[in-house]
Amino acid sequence: MRVLVTGGAGFIGSHVVDALVARGDSVVVLDDLSTGSRDNVNRGAELLVADVADIRAYGRMGRVDAIAHFASKTKVVESIEKLEVYRRIIIGGTAQAADFARACGARLVNVSSGGAGYGETPVCAKESDPLVPEAPYGRFKIEAEALLAGANAMTLRLANVYGPRQRGDLEGGVVSIFSERWSREPLTVFGDGTAERDYVHVADVVGATLAGIGGVHTGAYNVGTGVATSVNALIAAMTDLLGPPVGVHRAPPRAGELQRSCLDPGKAARDGFWRPSLALAEGLRKMSAAA
Ligand SMILES: NC(=O)c1ccc[n+]([C@@H]2O[C@H](COP(=O)([O-])OP(=O)(O)OC[C@H]3O[C@@H](n4cnc5c(N)ncnc54)[C@H](O)[C@@H]3O)[C@@H](O)[C@H]2O)c1
Repeated sequence: MRVLVTGGAGFIGSHVVDALVARGDSVVVLDDLSTGSRDNVNRGAELLVADVADIRAYGRMGRVDAIAHFASKTKVVESIEKLEVYRRIIIGGTAQAADFARACGARLVNVSSGGAGYGETPVCAKESDPLVPEAPYGRFKIEAEALLAGANAMTLRLANVYGPRQRGDLEGGVVSIFSERWSREPLTVFGDGTAERDYVHVADVVGATLAGIGGVHTGAYNVGTGVATSVNALIAAMTDLLGPPVGVHRAPPRAGELQRSCLDPGKAARDGFWRPSLALAEGLRKMSAAA
């Protein structure tokens, strides 16, 4: 099978590329290398350096059987400042990927954000819950889901993904930020550390993507664990594995941050699509072993 992975030089996309190459697929990566890296791209894959929103890029790659669409700008705060860039890449990029899927008759797995879409989730969010994205990043991600109409497509709404290759210098990615600093400088915790997130290991996201490519499901599916972990509990879990950090610096809470973000993966399990396999402690162990 020939598979296009947009954003395949980035954190999550590159793991999907590895899995596809490992199972013998022919893989083409479309990435502008803005936050991704050539070094992340499996040598068995072809890399096309181009803009996902540029129609000309698709004319250069020939027909594909499936598309995993990861290319995106991902910074919530930046999306307020660079509204039009975010609109062009998220809306324009998804529109091009969906057009290309329709033209090829290819299966499309689109990637969206649960955390940015559902807002506060005192109870882990279901796909049927109202979507209340606050920043343009989440708004465009949710709007982009509607662009799949008429394509053989589904959307994965991801929780907070962690694992090897996640950059610690970008927004979010608290596990990688803490991992990079752990034995070098104090960690910064904003607020009292009770803010909770649903941390899903990248291997589980790869599993959901491959299931999506090979499956027939449509609509949106949450890809999270259904378990919310506080920053304090995350530090405790990492301490069990790595020993104590150099220090913990407490800083005032950041404006606009969610207190609790958690995705209910029950629909994916009930529909026989996917279920998470790695609890946080196990996922952290796997990540640490890969380092
Ligand atoms: N990491 C998470 O916790 C998380 C959570 C929810 C959703 N997501 C979504 O998952 C996807 C991948 O995120 P990631 O964490 O791997 O981030 P990433 O920044 O590592 O990957 C994004 C990739 O897209 C590429 N890209 C950006 N703009 C592009 C453009 N105009 N044309 C072509 N390529 C472009 C980047 O170079 C990068 O390789 C994104 O769609 C993101 O919104 C991630």
